[in-house]
Order: sequence, then structure tokens, then C-alpha cells
Amino acid sequence: MADKTYRVIQWATGTVGSAALRYFIENPVIELAGVYVTNPEKVGKDAGDLVGLPRTGITATDDIEAIVALEADCVLFAPLNLAATTLDNICRLLASGKNVISPAGPFLPNKWFPDEAARIEAACRAGNSSYHGCGIHPGFAGDVLPLTLTRLMSRIDCIEVTEVIDKVRNPMIYTEIMGFGADPEELLANPRRSPETYKYFYSSMATIAEGLGKEIEKVTVKFEVARALKDTRHLYGEVKAGTVGGQHYEWTAWVEGAPLIVYHFYWQLGEDLDPLWEEGEAKYRVRIHGDPPLECHLMGGKDADGRHPFLGLPWTGLVGCTVVPDVCDALPGVVTHFDLGIVQPKGLVRR
Ligand SMILES: NC(=O)c1ccc[n+]([C@@H]2O[C@H](COP(=O)([O-])OP(=O)(O)OC[C@H]3O[C@@H](n4cnc5c(N)ncnc54)[C@H](OP(=O)(O)O)[C@@H]3O)[C@@H](O)[C@H]2O)c1
Repeated sequence: MADKTYRVIQWATGTVGSAALRYFIENPVIELAGVYVTNPEKVGKDAGDLVGLPRTGITATDDIEAIVALEADCVLFAPLNLAATTLDNICRLLASGKNVISPAGPFLPNKWFPDEAARIEAACRAGNSSYHGCGIHPGFAGDVLPLTLTRLMSRIDCIEVTEVIDKVRNPMIYTEIMGFGADPEELLANPRRSPETYKYFYSSMATIAEGLGKEIEKVTVKFEVARALKDTRHLYGEVKAGTVGGQHYEWTAWVEGAPLIVYHFYWQLGEDLDPLWEEGEAKYRVRIHGDPPLECHLMGGKDADGRHPFLGLPWTGLVGCTVVPDVCDALPGVVTHFDLGIVQPKGLVRR
């Protein structure tokens, strides 16, 4: 088993896909089999050139048929999540006999996506293949990490998972689309992140509940905004004083009449905000209330300026890459964290 290698295709090379492609080129248990891109400027380029690594001999293509026809064990599928094509392409790859790992929704199928779940199961049966949803959140920070930490508890009252992102230091292209700079009352009335979004995170909540032998009764949703106290520039524009400079989404999963799992998302533009909910350092934080109370922070290592970068996007790729051998070796069908058990990443220690 020590010498077993896995042929992998990287589908899309955005922020997540590039982190994955770099991993696949460098990891000795992985043989890169193909790269699918949509950007015409990337078509025909060597995979190594796309991510600043030595040439690989594998050329990026926009030919879906050629990718489907390739012999490969696994596809890390990381395009924009577009309702029209995402599921079709995932199912085609699964039916062609390739295992698929993907951060592009519907994530691990859950009760809110019965049709998608049925199609994925059918494609796995057709191809004798496996599907696994990966990501940092939804994903690792909101399920594997807190569930692992429950091993250190004697009694659990409530588990809070908090994402903090400072969008000045970690600029994101959709900052304006997400409502930063909007009139606070207008945004409160029309949140850009749909109140239904929790359904994409439900697999993570349900994983924690199931791991604790419980079932979620309902999920309630709260949304509040913070005003910018001064004009604040970010990479993609400017937010004026008095407009929306911070957003807090709160989703609560109730079990036996009380909150058991609460996800908070604090997205802030700098720290000149009213209210300032969190110091702006990017992090995922797990707090478990109970006996003994527990708090765990997941952050990128400090940069040269002493601050912690937000690594959520590369982590989303890496948490998929590190599970490739386990998903390839799993029984066909949807592979959950319970199916995987403790994942044992291969090829990471390279002296
Ligand atoms: N679960 C989580 O924690 C989590 C976190 C972050 C992201 N995600 C998901 O991961 C996926 C990738 O995110 P990302 O941050 O890497 O996005 P991104 O940087 O915007 O990259 C997406 C890539 O998709 C391809 N693409 C562009 N237009 C497309 C189109 N019209 N149809 C199909 N593909 C298109 C492009 O690939 P090429 O450049 O190769 O042409 C683009 O670089 C998304 O589905 C996102 O929702 C999940």
C-alpha cells in the first residue's frame, strides 16, 4: 500500500483549485492525469505554469469530453457553483467511473437536497464510484473540528462555531455584491446572503448532531449589520461612513427544544465599526459550552506583519486533496466523515 499512487484530475483552477493543483503536482502519491479550465488564456498551458511550479507535461484543456474520457481515479471538482452545470458535470464524472471530491455545493447531500442526493447516488452506482463534499465551512471548521473536540468534554450544552473575516485585509471580489457599502436598513430588509443559505451548511450541522446521537429539529436564522464609522477603502472599492461595514449571520440548530449548534459569521471591513463584534483577525473559533468549557482557534500562521491571514480558500482545496486516497479506497456511494473515520493523509512529510 505504501507505494500506491492515485491518478487525479483537477477541475478548475480558481483560488481553491490552484491550491489543489499545486498539492497534486507536488505530492508523491498523486499522479496528475489532467486539468480542466474554462479561462481561454489558461487553455493549452502546462499545469505547472498555471501555479508557478516546474512543467508537468500535463496541458490544461477546456474539452469536457476529453476529461471524461481520461483514465483517472479521482477528480477534485472546484468550479464556480452554477446550478445549471455543477450537478450535471459531477454526475457525468461519477458515472464515468471517477471518484469526485468537491467543495461546489450541494456539499455532502442532505435532507434539503433530496433530488441532488438521488442523482449523485445513482451516478455513483452507475460508475461504481464515490462522492465526497469538502470545504473549510461548510466543512472542516464546522463539523470535523468541533466533533473531534467533543472528545474533550464531559457534558455539552451548546457548540458555537464562529467565522471571522476582515475583508480589508482579506479582500474578496464580491465584497460590494454582498452588501458592504449598502444602506443598513435596505440590507437588513434584503440580505444578499439568502436566509436559506444555511441549507448548504446543514450537512455540517447534521454531522455534529448525528455524532452526538441527536437530531436537529429546526434551524433559526438571524442577521444584523454594523455601520462603518469612517470611509474605508478595500481592494475592490470604498465603503462610506454610515453605510454597511460589517455583517453578522447567525444560524442556530435546535435539539430537544434548545440551541445545540450555532454558526456565527462575522464579516467586517476593518475595525472602525459600530458595533465592532470581533477583533478583525481572521479565524474560525469553536466554543463548546458545558463541562469543562472549551475554546479553540483555527488561524493561518502569522505573516511577516504579525497578523494571521485568512486561509479558508486554500484550506478548502487542501481538505479535499488530503482525503483523495481514502475516498478512492472507500466503498461506492456518498462518503461521509463517519465512513472516513480518522483520515490519514499520505505523502505530506517530504524531507
Ligand atoms: N465549502 C467551503 O468551505 C468553500 C469555500 C470556498 C469556496 N467553495 C466553493 O469552491 C468553489 C471554488 O471556489 P474559488 O474560491 O476557487 O472560486 P474562484 O476563485 O472564483 O474560481 C472558480 C473557477 O471556476 C472556473 N469558472 C469560471 N467561470 C466559470 C463558469 N462560468 N462555469 C464554470 N466554471 C467557471 C474558473 O476556472 P479556471 O480559472 O480554471 O478557468 C474559475 O477560476 C466554488 O464552488 C465555491 O463555492 C467552498
